[in-house]
Amino acid sequence: MAGTLRGLRGRSLVQDADLSKGEFLDLVDFAVALRSEKRLGQEPYRLEGKNVALIFEKSSTRTRSAFEVAAHDQGAHATYMGPGESQLGYKESVKDTARVLSRMFDGIEYRGFAQREVDELAKFASVPVWNGLTDQWHPTQLLADVMTMRDHGDRPLEETALCYVGDARNNTANSLLVVGALLGLDVRIGAPEALQPSFEVRGLAEDLAKESGARVTVTSVLADAVAKADFLYTDVWLSMGEPNESWGERIRLLFPYQINAALLALTRNPDVKVLHCLPALHNADTDVGKQLAASYHVDALEITEEVFESPASIVFDQAENRLHTIKALMIATMVGA
Ligand code: CP
Ligand code: NVA
Repeated sequence: MAGTLRGLRGRSLVQDADLSKGEFLDLVDFAVALRSEKRLGQEPYRLEGKNVALIFEKSSTRTRSAFEVAAHDQGAHATYMGPGESQLGYKESVKDTARVLSRMFDGIEYRGFAQREVDELAKFASVPVWNGLTDQWHPTQLLADVMTMRDHGDRPLEETALCYVGDARNNTANSLLVVGALLGLDVRIGAPEALQPSFEVRGLAEDLAKESGARVTVTSVLADAVAKADFLYTDVWLSMGEPNESWGERIRLLFPYQINAALLALTRNPDVKVLHCLPALHNADTDVGKQLAASYHVDALEITEEVFESPASIVFDQAENRLHTIKALMIATMVGA
């Protein structure tokens, strides 16, 4: 394991900026090595005898699966507590839950609403706490995203242009802006002014960019945002926990920022690749997709079916990389080198 990873033992990841650039990149390198081991069927048990708690106050496919499969692959046991399945928040405080779970588990994953809850959990837990998504940040997602850009990019990250379009006030966009700044990318946000990152998140990104040499651009002008981008990224226009009544307003504001064939052409990069953390509303095959198609006469939301299913889309590689990066994070923080 690389030098910087030793320093992660016992640490939590509650937001992206908890990691240094070196730690972030070493975690990604470690995940690449873990992927090779798994594919060769040569994976040692580094987490034998460990127990991890997975607390989800919102639903999940990828994050839950990644933690559970990674734990199993490495010889650990995972205990899943879904929405409403523990005493947390109902009869028991975050502070008390942190101290109880620390007596039984070697690590705690938490997906919830307010960032202060996961911050509090990490403060009072004596084992590593991993943020599996809050309203503000989605740090484990970005580990997989950077791994995927490394897999598919043909230039160093510092020479890579990553452009996020869509709802840029959500967890994924916040994490993307901060990680792009941390790692020294040319990181852009293309979003209407009402849905651009907060002053606080932009400030953090700009501070990190001073250290890394990153270029940080936030604009509502799409042509500027996407010009010569290597990667386009989008996410759902209404995140978990937001009221359904906001769909109409979001569709009105964000339709021009949809990832479609015209937006790909606007990049003027024929090799541009498309990322999405998933789940994606790219057709009317889901309940939500059907409802939105009926109410707003749209056949896709943030990304069209055509682009989602095109060779430019690398979203399933990205989804798989959640497993390898979460595994790297659990090993580095629970047992170290
Ligand atoms: N990308 C992501 O976090 O997916 P899930 O909500 O399915 O975990
Ligand atoms: N922004 C999305 C991400 C889902 C993985 C949400 O919070 O619902």
